[in-house]
Amino acid sequence: MNTLAKTMIASQGHPGPQTGNGALAAPRKTLVAALQLFDAPAAPGLALDLGCGVGADTLELLNRSWNVVAVDSDPEALATLLTQMPAHHMSRLTTRLLAFEELSAARMATFDLVNASFSLPYCPPADFNGFWANVGQLIRRNGRFCGHFFGLSHTARAEFNTTLHSLVDIYALLAGFEVEMLNGVEKDQPQPDGSMKHSHIISVVARKY
Ligand SMILES: C[S@@+](CC[C@H](N)C(=O)[O-])C[C@H]1O[C@@H](n2cnc3c(N)ncnc32)[C@H](O)[C@@H]1O
Repeated sequence: MNTLAKTMIASQGHPGPQTGNGALAAPRKTLVAALQLFDAPAAPGLALDLGCGVGADTLELLNRSWNVVAVDSDPEALATLLTQMPAHHMSRLTTRLLAFEELSAARMATFDLVNASFSLPYCPPADFNGFWANVGQLIRRNGRFCGHFFGLSHTARAEFNTTLHSLVDIYALLAGFEVEMLNGVEKDQPQPDGSMKHSHIISVVARKY
């Protein structure tokens, strides 16, 4: 994702995870909710952070002793992520420079958790269903998915080729999962140029049967 896209994300009410001083912001609520649902002592396990960005969620997983594969198509984001991770976590972290569209060819392990915070909608619509089918296969039985979808009324910028979903779409995508949390939030947000954007974010945590 380029700088313009990151700026757009910030202006739509889900700012990127970097704070001004280079420290990472708090992990996403969906990730924290999902982690609470795993039984100790079975967790921590192996997590895939899809569209990890600069790594706020990756760091949370590492801090909780998970092993993490962090995937992003933006080399700059991955380079920044690597500078943010404490050295003592590095043996449990793998980074992959990969687009969602290439995931099926990537020969991944299966995961206890797939986390996709504000990233899935950037998979192009033509590739989304194939990509999602692959995500489903990458999650072990009793493993979890957590992340965000953009609802149909989300103001999407055409140049980002964003994939939007209705609630019906999302429940269909989650066939084979027990939906443990699903929240939709819509709001209007004034933009610096005087225009208004409508943000429609659907947050999900789900366990695979
Ligand atoms: C809005 S940022 C979210 C970053 C982080 N997960 C968070 O919660 O702040 C979206 C991330 O998805 C990545 N991304 C966008 N399209 C992608 C694609 N097709 N394949 C892989 N990563 C992609 C971007 O590079 C960016 O790091």
